[in-house]
Amino acid sequence: MSASSHESSIGIDTSLHNLATFPIGVAVSAGNESRSLLDIQAKQDVVKQHFNQLTAGNIMKMSYLHPAENTYTYDNADALINWADANGISMHAHALIWHSNYQVPNWMSSFNGTSENWKDMMDSHVKTITAHFAGRVDSWDVVNEAFENTAEGYRNSIFFTKMGSSYLENAFLAARDGDSEVDLYYNDYSIEAEPVKLGHVLNMVDDFQARDIPIDGIGFQMHVFLNYPSITAISAAFQEVVNRGLKVKITELDVVLNNPYNANANATEYSSLTPAVAELQRQRYYDIVKAYKNTVPEGLRGGVTIWGIWDGDSWLNPGTINDIQEWPLLFTGPANGPYIPKPAFEGVAEALGE
Ligand code: XIL
Repeated sequence: MSASSHESSIGIDTSLHNLATFPIGVAVSAGNESRSLLDIQAKQDVVKQHFNQLTAGNIMKMSYLHPAENTYTYDNADALINWADANGISMHAHALIWHSNYQVPNWMSSFNGTSENWKDMMDSHVKTITAHFAGRVDSWDVVNEAFENTAEGYRNSIFFTKMGSSYLENAFLAARDGDSEVDLYYNDYSIEAEPVKLGHVLNMVDDFQARDIPIDGIGFQMHVFLNYPSITAISAAFQEVVNRGLKVKITELDVVLNNPYNANANATEYSSLTPAVAELQRQRYYDIVKAYKNTVPEGLRGGVTIWGIWDGDSWLNPGTINDIQEWPLLFTGPANGPYIPKPAFEGVAEALGE
């Protein structure tokens, strides 16, 4: 397709969130991060035009909010939420419990105590934070990435080591205690691709539902590739969650052209975003949003969030996972804007508009 045919089909006045009946979110930098949303007017403009939900890409993670056992630092998150609120934008909060080494605060990693002490400490972490933000965020990723695609299932995180699998239910109970209204999500990657891993998540859901442990939805991160996983697999995974009456939220969508985990990463398939591959990416975004709309009934659509505004801000740029250049998002630069919609943007807009 030519640029002009894109413009005629989508139009410069397009607003993604106006095309949608569910939240359309984007992850943003804030606080002391470089290229903070609050520092760049062009980012604020593009966010206001197209998105009606934000996720903090980093600044609401554990070590940012809870850097010492008796210290909580809310200023940066509060500033972001104030901005969102002033602009009629809701918040999806991420994440109360995440194994990732750099995100478990040091004081927590070295916390000594029995499993009971750990439970009290984690309950207080979750309840204090959810209570602080109560009424100001729509949803929380309560636990992020607790399962693996293995027969055993539970990731051997510090939380699992110290408390066993009960840390999961404790976290959801403490979150509900802190905020009686907020939607509580379990969030993970590759659960649209790996049925064994999804099975562990679903077993947890079934167990929670049988015992009245609160849970409102499953977050599918969806850091996907151009050709993997298949739309059939993605739809089947969404359907399993729908069958249990839980919300489905795509929480961190991006579409890379090359598999970043490929051991042979230097042999990239695509080393530039040619018009032909940009068109494949447009189609991929379209197919994913269509699959979401086709599979998840209106009342269970938690929304779709893209993991960053423009390609240069993506976490998949060289240096994070490996050194492959990538173009995973909906807009291109320059860094301070104005941001230019890519064919990928048009794929999302088309799927939302249909
Ligand atoms: C990423 C951020 O985007 C990066 O800035 C940071 O360096 C690492 O974390 N799954 C998640 C997100 O749940 O929190 C991660 O975000 C991406 C993978």
